[in-house]
Amino acid sequence: MIRLKGVHKRWDRPVLDGLDLHLERGVVWGLIGPAASGKSVLLKTVCGLEKPTSGEVWVDGQEISGMDEREMMKVRRKFGMLFQNNALFDFMDVGQNVAFPLVRAGGVDPEEIEERVASRLKAVGLSGSERKMPNELSGGMRKRVGIARATIASPPIVVYDEPTAGLDPVTTSKIYDLLRAIQDQSHATVMAVSSDINALRTFVGRIAMIYQGRIIYDGLESELDGCQDPVVHQFIRGELEGPL
Ligand SMILES: Nc1ncnc2c1ncn2[C@@H]1O[C@H](COP(=O)(O)OP(=O)(O)O)[C@@H](O)[C@H]1O
Ligand SMILES: [Mg+2]
Repeated sequence: MIRLKGVHKRWDRPVLDGLDLHLERGVVWGLIGPAASGKSVLLKTVCGLEKPTSGEVWVDGQEISGMDEREMMKVRRKFGMLFQNNALFDFMDVGQNVAFPLVRAGGVDPEEIEERVASRLKAVGLSGSERKMPNELSGGMRKRVGIARATIASPPIVVYDEPTAGLDPVTTSKIYDLLRAIQDQSHATVMAVSSDINALRTFVGRIAMIYQGRIIYDGLESELDGCQDPVVHQFIRGELEGPL
């Protein structure tokens, strides 16, 4: 479903420094790594929101890095995205926010949109919240609305960038329960980045670590603890020295 071949991305310094990755359809893949290690850049590159400096990005059989904006728009519809700073639209109510991917795609009539919004809100535990405004909601509720929006169009690929950033541990574990429940229904291909490593591990089947522009570990979640790489070991124990 997703394949990266020798992907480099640099601005003033290399951020992605020769990445290879292959995700089969339906895999639930997690990515960990220190702050500013390129996790968000990697997700954006896969979604076509950033172009690699060099290398190939394949999505569902198409190489996207050479595409123009029009072709790219079509590819982006394959993705449900929940980005860290891609907040809800403040000027739209919850119902309009959740409906947005369906409205943008077109071809779905208003009654069906209304029904699908209601059923998505129910799925995330926010039944009847259509007419609330985002600023009336708690952080956890806003994330739930974002998850509803990311998944309403049943995209084959879903990208979650820090779905629990800023949330307390109880809310974090509830969000992961929700992601698991959604995944059991949808069987999408998932890429999830999180700093809440233990919570992330309850959700993914496969986990990778990015460090200094490269993927230094990629394997079964159940085998992560047995990984011999000292950097991976230190990182999952919270002992890796950071740039601060
Ligand atoms: N649009 C951009 N222009 C210049 N540098 C960027 C841009 N986006 C990200 N970076 C840099 O790339 C590095 C990785 O960023 P990011 O992927 O957001 O890190 P994280 O792993 O915390 O998600 C950071 O040093 C960041 O400053
Ligand atoms: Mg990030």
